[in-house]
Amino acid sequence: MALRHLMSPLDFSTGELDKLMDLANDIEKNPDKYAHVCAGKKIATLFYEPSTRTRLSFEAAMLNLGGSVLGFHSSDSSSAAKGESVSDTMRIVSCYADIAAMRHPKEGAPLVASMKSMIPVINAGDGGHQHPTQTLTDLLTIRSLKGHFEGLTIGLCGDLKFGRTVHSLINALSRYDNIRFVLISPEELRVPSYVREAMRAQNIPFEEVVKLDEETMKDLDILYMTRVQKERFFNEEDYLRMKDFYILDKEKMDLAPEKMLVLHPLPRVNEISVDVDNDPRAAYFKQAQYGVYIRMALILTLLGLEVK
Ligand code: NCD
Repeated sequence: MALRHLMSPLDFSTGELDKLMDLANDIEKNPDKYAHVCAGKKIATLFYEPSTRTRLSFEAAMLNLGGSVLGFHSSDSSSAAKGESVSDTMRIVSCYADIAAMRHPKEGAPLVASMKSMIPVINAGDGGHQHPTQTLTDLLTIRSLKGHFEGLTIGLCGDLKFGRTVHSLINALSRYDNIRFVLISPEELRVPSYVREAMRAQNIPFEEVVKLDEETMKDLDILYMTRVQKERFFNEEDYLRMKDFYILDKEKMDLAPEKMLVLHPLPRVNEISVDVDNDPRAAYFKQAQYGVYIRMALILTLLGLEVK
């Protein structure tokens, strides 16, 4: 099998994504069938930036498949602290593991690493650029709970400038018919121009608004909330000014459509109040669970392992 990496959600065709999501749904229904497929296989999680869900769900995914995990969870605890390049690290890790997931603060670092790798490399988030496995998680959540992508109106709210999950999700959803985006952000945190230009080039309808109010929410099928990305701000003052710009609370949810699902890649800070957690439309904890199934499906697919 040819060596294959995952750097962007567009690396998979929509047909391949369907297969991946079908596999994830089967894993959810029949976990025992998959419990030993990866016996003897190892995943390396190479995290140069903090993570809870992404790293642990990759590790849980491999453990659920009967495999093992190794890796590091900060650049201080790896040879990056001594000045080693990601390419050299990846060459070495290729000798120790069968597949790797890498998160790095620099845009493009996992891509550079993949060029020297002998094993599949998964981009687990590169700076403010992309986060393809969060997108796979989001797609599986939407497909499982809504049944389809076509015709959906998706509101993305918060830090659309630095939020890599937003960039990857727009990329991925733009390939389905009659998708419409409502981009809700403060002026300073609008989507980067390359994302806006890509939507224009594909004739994807989108509007940009500042307020998260009844008028904005009235047509939404999905409201995708995001955290203001503190670590990407150049100065603390700007972050403090922006951090509580949006707070989705019970009062706001009372004004939202009955079928509007609320997603969030998590971690949340203040942008969703805990009083929304019990609302039947709050799907963000289920979303985190779907992250394990889709990562199990991804590991199997990139390793070329099939279960009959
Ligand atoms: C996201 C990320 O790392 O980009 N978290 C995640 O992987 N679920 C979102 C965020 O950190 O705000």
